[in-house]
Amino acid sequence: MTDQMPVTISPEDAVELAAEARSDLEWFRNAVFYQVVLPSFSDGNKDGIGDFIGLTNKLSYISWLGVDAIWVPPFYPSPLGDAGYDVADYCDVAPQYGTLGDFDRFIEEAHRQGIKVVVDLVMNHTSSAHPWFEASRTDPGGPYGDYYVWSDTDEAYPDVRIIFVDTEESNWAWDEVRGQYYWHRFFSHQPDLNFENPAVRQEMLEAARFWCDRGVDGLRLDAIPYLYEAEGTNGENLPATHEFIAEVRKMMDEEYPGVVLIAEANQPPNEVVQYFGTNESPECHLCFHFPLMPQIFKSLKSESTDGIRAVWEHTPVPPARGIWGLFLRNHDELTLEMVSDEERWQMYKWYAPEPRMRANVGIRRRLSPLVDGSRQDLELVHALLLSLPGAPFLYYGDEIGMGDTIELFDRDGVRTPMQWDDSEGAGFSEAPLERFYLPVVDREGYSPAEVSVAAQEGHPDSWLNWLRGLLAARKAALALQDGHFEIIPTDNEAIFAFWRHGTWRAIGDNAPVLCVYNFSHEDQEISLELRETDESASVRWIAGAAVVEHTRGQWFATIPARNFGWFELQ
Ligand code: GLC
Ligand code: CA
Repeated sequence: MTDQMPVTISPEDAVELAAEARSDLEWFRNAVFYQVVLPSFSDGNKDGIGDFIGLTNKLSYISWLGVDAIWVPPFYPSPLGDAGYDVADYCDVAPQYGTLGDFDRFIEEAHRQGIKVVVDLVMNHTSSAHPWFEASRTDPGGPYGDYYVWSDTDEAYPDVRIIFVDTEESNWAWDEVRGQYYWHRFFSHQPDLNFENPAVRQEMLEAARFWCDRGVDGLRLDAIPYLYEAEGTNGENLPATHEFIAEVRKMMDEEYPGVVLIAEANQPPNEVVQYFGTNESPECHLCFHFPLMPQIFKSLKSESTDGIRAVWEHTPVPPARGIWGLFLRNHDELTLEMVSDEERWQMYKWYAPEPRMRANVGIRRRLSPLVDGSRQDLELVHALLLSLPGAPFLYYGDEIGMGDTIELFDRDGVRTPMQWDDSEGAGFSEAPLERFYLPVVDREGYSPAEVSVAAQEGHPDSWLNWLRGLLAARKAALALQDGHFEIIPTDNEAIFAFWRHGTWRAIGDNAPVLCVYNFSHEDQEISLELRETDESASVRWIAGAAVVEHTRGQWFATIPARNFGWFELQ
């Protein structure tokens, strides 16, 4: 394997990078993110809907867990036809979540506790209830007439696929009022904005400024591959889209240095990597790695890690010093857009045997039920998530192994109230149960009486505390946070082994970390081909039950079934 290790950097780079680290513009490079769903996290005013007061009250829990940043999906005024991704006003807080003042206090308190805050910027579309759309449909010649993509026919852009296949038959919808069709990539109540119009681009920059001025540390750019359309294309990742993202980044670097852009682009690696931009023209600081995620789930069932390896082999090193956003689950379906047809059917068979477990091109279930509540599997996939190159994103409730309610509408089944304690309302809200935004999970094995923060936080052996310990271990192992990544070839497909070495942030403190994973249900022994000079190294165990030994130039790892090991070489 490895010809150069550890990696050294030039003294000039070292000086520059140390300066950046000091000013903390690079905070995202070693951050762990935690996604909440605001209406389901904690209800501060007893109306059954989570809000900013409730979230602020729970910041001490989030900081205790050991994460660095919170991502709060859209909380803007909205008819909630898509959980708030249908925005009716970019620059306000929906009343059920509180006031702008509550938001400011949340940001202030998060920062006081050392936690960064990321919010969504939904650029591609608005709600049809947005005043811009009302103006556009009623007054075609007026200032908003050109804010959306209108057409006399529904035949333009025939090569564009439909994303929400469960509900939509066309990307065009007829508007009675204007007597024209409008373009929508998602729900028909989410008309796409017309980015050809400079006024629309300006509005988006203004919306970004509005939240940056209030102190947010990052913007997740929702659904960005679809900003522009062009005849004869599939309307995804078009050059004009990249140009605009680069313009947003330029504005951010000039006006809000240190505030990061995160790309939600559900695309293959060679396409998504474009959202980092180039050194000369950077775009996003982080891009979610969509193709990786389903391969992790596939490996659990197939006991082969070939899919994970193949994804990384096709994953270019991010340009412009960007890093990957890694995740297992989020508020959406476990998307299967990035796997082959054959893999998709296999995944449905394994993970979504009942039709109502599926949504669009994916699976609407939570992590713990997906792995049949297996603690071992939860440990295995989280260890992998926390050691691959990128910033891990955890999804609220997965840290206690929360379940789902597949009977609920759309993706609501994975967005149910956070289970804080064993009471009927799960400690989420003191409102009567019938006023809860969504019902608390009551499936056997997953009810608040069985799964809650209160039941786990005091127990050193609980899943919650195990994960918290692993987060702390990751923090201490610098190479795991921001080190280079190098796969160690093995001839055992159940094993995934790699190095992380070097780190941009902590110059000089770059003990390489060896990570080994066994996806098989049997214990495995493997020999690892390591460089000769590694023989003298001493091995410090960090986490997992694997054992690594070296004798006479040969390295051996013994990894128990469904287990792993992290080792620092000193
Ligand atoms: C993104 C969001 C998803 C939403 C969609 C349309 O994919 O993650 O929840 O439905 O955009 O806005
Ligand atoms: Ca409330």
